[in-house]
Amino acid sequence: MKLLITGGAGFIGSNFIHYILKNHPEDEVVNFDKLTYAGNLANLKDVETDKRYKFFKGDIADKSSVLEAIGDCEAIINFAADTHVDRSLLDPDAFIRTDIIGTRVLLDVVKEKKLKRYIQISTDEVYGDVEKGIFCKETDPLRPSSPYSASKAAADLLVLAYRRTWNLPVLITRCTNNYGPNQYPEKFIPLAVTNLLQNQKVPVYGDGLQVRDWLYVEDHCRGVDLVLRKGQEGEVYNFGANQDPEWPNLKILEAILKQLNKGDEFKSFVADRAGHDRRYAVDTSKAEQELGWRPTTGLTEGLKATVEWYVDRQDWWHPLKSGEFLAYYKKQYQDRK
Ligand code: NAD
Ligand code: TYD
Repeated sequence: MKLLITGGAGFIGSNFIHYILKNHPEDEVVNFDKLTYAGNLANLKDVETDKRYKFFKGDIADKSSVLEAIGDCEAIINFAADTHVDRSLLDPDAFIRTDIIGTRVLLDVVKEKKLKRYIQISTDEVYGDVEKGIFCKETDPLRPSSPYSASKAAADLLVLAYRRTWNLPVLITRCTNNYGPNQYPEKFIPLAVTNLLQNQKVPVYGDGLQVRDWLYVEDHCRGVDLVLRKGQEGEVYNFGANQDPEWPNLKILEAILKQLNKGDEFKSFVADRAGHDRRYAVDTSKAEQELGWRPTTGLTEGLKATVEWYVDRQDWWHPLKSGEFLAYYKKQYQDRK
């Protein structure tokens, strides 16, 4: 199959491109990415010369650019998005443009070009906050809390509307928080690890007892690949790790502190995020039963490997923690008492 992978220079997209090139020797990939602050071609340095891989710089909200790149691709997998909740609170514009309008443009291209498959990479955040003991099903109502998750929910609804109206071959995945190599250091785990490696404190929002269900990125990539090849058109699939017991943010931070031999003085409790969702959790039985998917990397093992990756790859993240990042960091954290 020839695939147009949008957002392939970002965290999950770059891991997915590696996954495809490694596991499907017959596949070809066009990586379509705008290279925003979160896009980084260093993530793909090792595949640059692979004949099955091409890079195309473009914006998914610009239809002519998508049409130019699509060539004879048979499917689109849309990872491209503005993705950081905290940034969506500072300025939602890019989220509306990329996550909603960009998705609409891609759906129009699928319709016009009669593509065989479209996968929308969505998020568990569209279900909003959930009480302990509840695991959201794919059919549950969407109750997003932030401009980021509202944009992703709007995109999901567009995908489903194009399915109903034009019977497009679309599928949606909703996964929990990913972690692993290549994640931009604004997100909690890489921010914590890289701050500690720079001898800086780690900001903990509120009481630090919020719960996310952390999924190792390679497990997620395998799930998306199964959806691409075996998923049923028009369907939504949840992916998550179902940690039992659950790991609140503080427990994650404590594991990282321990691995890096740092003490409690590196925890910095700061004002909570506005509208902060307390807990996310999804029911993954549909992906397990229909696709035979199961996560294989536990959090203890995956977190250890991830911390080691950031320790080893300071050449990767040092250049990122400069310029734009520092300006953002100051704006986001300086008055957060
Ligand atoms: P990321 O922020 O690391 O990367 C996003 C990529 O999209 C970057 O390479 C960026 O340059 C590109 N991009 C942004 N705007 C674009 C545009 N207009 N046109 C083309 N490219 C554009 O994101 P990520 O963490 O890899 O997330 C990928 C997808 O997975 C997103 O759709 C996100 O909503 C979803 N998701 C992420 C997580 C997570 O924990 N990271 C969890 C659930 C769902
Ligand atoms: P994040 O990585 O931003 O992902 P999301 O908000 O999309 O789940 O945050 C993960 C959790 O960590 C979330 O509960 C917010 C919290 N957090 C902090 O406590 N401090 C931080 O500096 C950041 C970035 C996040």
